[in-house]
Amino acid sequence: MNPPAIAIDGPAASGKSTVAKLIAKELGFTFINTGAMYRAVTWYVLQQGINPADAEAVKAVLADIPLSFGKDGAVSTVMCEGRVLGEELTLQSTNDNVSTIAAIPEVRALLVEKQREYNLTEPVVMEGRDIGTVVFPNTPYKYFVTASEEVRAARRAAQGLTDSIAERDRKDSARACAPLTKADDAQLVDTSDMTIEQVVASIAADIRSRMA
Ligand code: CDP
Repeated sequence: MNPPAIAIDGPAASGKSTVAKLIAKELGFTFINTGAMYRAVTWYVLQQGINPADAEAVKAVLADIPLSFGKDGAVSTVMCEGRVLGEELTLQSTNDNVSTIAAIPEVRALLVEKQREYNLTEPVVMEGRDIGTVVFPNTPYKYFVTASEEVRAARRAAQGLTDSIAERDRKDSARACAPLTKADDAQLVDTSDMTIEQVVASIAADIRSRMA
C-alpha cells in the first residue's frame, strides 16, 4: 500500500496552491504542484517553436522531452536539462497555452505517471485539476477548493499577474480527457469568505481526525 495522498483540486486562483503547501507543511508531507508540470511542458513546446494546437507535433517531442521532476526539500520542482524552472512557468505565453497542452491525453498520461511516482515512497499533498478523479481516485482524502469567480479574479490581480483564468477554467472544464470537476466523494470547500488560515485549519483538522 502507498503512503497517504491528499488530493486538492479546484479552478484557477482558488487559493488551492497556498492551502495545499501549508497543509503539506503542517502534516510533514511532500507538496506536489502538478500545474507546474503542465506549465513546464507548455514552456518547452513553445521554446521548440511548436504550435501547442498541433497535438501531433506536441506528441512527437514527448518521448525525448528533457524535463525531469524532483524535489527541493519537501516541495516539488521541475527541471529542464538539470536547471530548475521558475519564471518560465508563469510567462504570459505559458499561461495562454497551458490549457491547450493539458488537453492532450498523451501529455496527461506521461505526467500522471510521474505524479504517482512521488507517492510510491512518501506521503504527498498534491494539487491540480484531476488528482481526486484520475491520479488518486482511491484516496479517502479529497478536497475541491473553490471561490467565486470575482474573488478568484481579485486574488490573481493581487498577485500582479494578468491571466485569463475564466478562459482557462472554461477550457479545463470542457476538455474530454480528465476535465476539471469535483470527484463525487470530494469535500467541497468554498473559500470565498474564508481566510487562508481558516481553510488550512479546517482541512488539516478533517484529515487528522480521519487518520486517527
Ligand atoms: O495556479 P493556477 O491554479 O492558475 O494553475 P495551475 O495549477 O498552475 O495549472 C495550470 C494549468 O495546468 C491549468 O489551467 C490546467 O490547464 C493544467 N492542469 C491540469 O490540466 N491538470 C492538473 N492536474 C494541473 C494543472
